Amino acid sequence: MNDSDLGRVLVDADELQQRVAQLGKEITSDFADDPPLLVGVLKGAFMFMADLSRSIDLPVEFDFMAVSSYGSATRTSGVVRIVKDLDIDLTGRRVLIVEDIVDSGLTLSYLRKNLLARGPASLDVCALLVKEGLQRNDPDLRYTGFRIPPVFVVGYGLDAAERYRNLPYIVEYLPGEGA
Ligand code: IMP
Ligand code: MG
Repeated sequence: MNDSDLGRVLVDADELQQRVAQLGKEITSDFADDPPLLVGVLKGAFMFMADLSRSIDLPVEFDFMAVSSYGSATRTSGVVRIVKDLDIDLTGRRVLIVEDIVDSGLTLSYLRKNLLARGPASLDVCALLVKEGLQRNDPDLRYTGFRIPPVFVVGYGLDAAERYRNLPYIVEYLPGEGA
């Protein structure tokens, strides 16, 4: 895509696919005895969830929730609202949260607390991207795809005002800095 708002590619499509396949293998062996319920956080995680789940060779179940955090377009305030809740009861389940990106860690910290209160047998997190050095809360991630510098990125599910989610790579977003 030729777009002047896009900067350098931080993770290309091949790297993404390889890492996602590795994560799927790890999850397959870690959860072989008790397949997890995958909880995708919409909308950003939809593409990661689709690829990751196809690399998990276990009878996993799926659910999705949507949260919105108040704040400006490229910054979270830490106040999170559940826009779409889960359909499945978490009681006694091994739950694996599938997140697109951890920035301040506030969204995840809210989600953890909220889901832990529902009595799962275990609760782990698989985040595709973690921004370096910004977490105010310890995000405690069992699986991480890539650590990236603290810049705003789009692609592979991640958006800026609902655009760029379909790019098959992760690229820096630099509004208004193009030629
Ligand atoms: P946090 O609460 O600051 O960790 O922000 C997490 C949420 O903000 C993610 O789940 C994304 O939806 C969104 N987000 C954070 N950084 C980015 C980014 O660089 N690009 C797109 N969305 C982002
Ligand atoms: Mg998200």
